[in-house]
Amino acid sequence: MELLHTVDEVRQRVRQWRREEQTVALVPTMGNLHPGHLSLVEEARRQADKVVVSIFVNPTQFGPGEDFDSYPRTLNDDAAHLREAGVELLFAPAVEEIYPLGGNQTWVDVDQLGEHLCGAGRPGHFRGVATVVSKLFNIVQPDVAVFGEKDFQQLAILRRMTREMLMPIRIIAAPTDREADGLARSSRNGYLSDSERARAPLLQQHLQDARRAIEAGEQDFRALEKRLSTSLNQHGFEVDYFTVANAVTLAPAGARDRDLVIAAAARLGKPRLIDNITVQRSAGTG
Ligand code: PAJ
Repeated sequence: MELLHTVDEVRQRVRQWRREEQTVALVPTMGNLHPGHLSLVEEARRQADKVVVSIFVNPTQFGPGEDFDSYPRTLNDDAAHLREAGVELLFAPAVEEIYPLGGNQTWVDVDQLGEHLCGAGRPGHFRGVATVVSKLFNIVQPDVAVFGEKDFQQLAILRRMTREMLMPIRIIAAPTDREADGLARSSRNGYLSDSERARAPLLQQHLQDARRAIEAGEQDFRALEKRLSTSLNQHGFEVDYFTVANAVTLAPAGARDRDLVIAAAARLGKPRLIDNITVQRSAGTG
């Protein structure tokens, strides 16, 4: 595996692969890799001849007071895992490579999809994500890019961006990888204390409760959201949102919507955990 730090070096390597008619998959990450990230790498491996992983803790997607400075940076361990996974190229740029003129002035902003769920409480977050992923796409020019369903809204936004900006890149979704007790793996789970870690799977369990209620015919989604948020708060979570949304628009769902995503974000001690679950309601319901 090659470890490259500059845009020019990456372009040169990819140009060479193109001359050899090799296809290229990109897996963007912020590092501190866990098995969830590696499942994306495996999917990328199935999709293309060459796999590029980027590790870049992107300053523009962190809000004031968020954990940009303390975000875990573990490049040596990450590189060892990626080497073992058979990745051809690890791109780990410095901030100046990605933001060469300092204060960035050019942004990619996805309107409506970016306003719901996490967008409401993290202004500018998805603009930062869409902008950095556009930059990574421009550098690597991959045939395929792989993203996790764990970040459902991020995936929806990046799909929309790719289509609307006519980027010739296929976006592949990979399912959420979980710990044995159901907690979605996340680089931020390391911030949990032992007692918080023991309670953390309740987030996924509440999403499943909501799904079961909907499958059993519950149609008052706002009441359901309230009930489950209250219950999570009683277990020591600070719920940011617990929303039954239309899986396509991400707007709060109504009784007529069929393709739903139940998405939640809640702080538990230091970290803010997010998770989601999709539900298809049959034509007979509601
Ligand atoms: P990061 O949080 O490092 O996640 C990188 C990729 O791994 C994302 O596509 C995310 O959805 C996926 N992922 C994280 N945990 C997962 C899990 N438990 N199961 C499956 N996939 C999982 O998301 C970002 O970085 C950044 O916003 C980025 C897209 C790199 C832009 O900076």
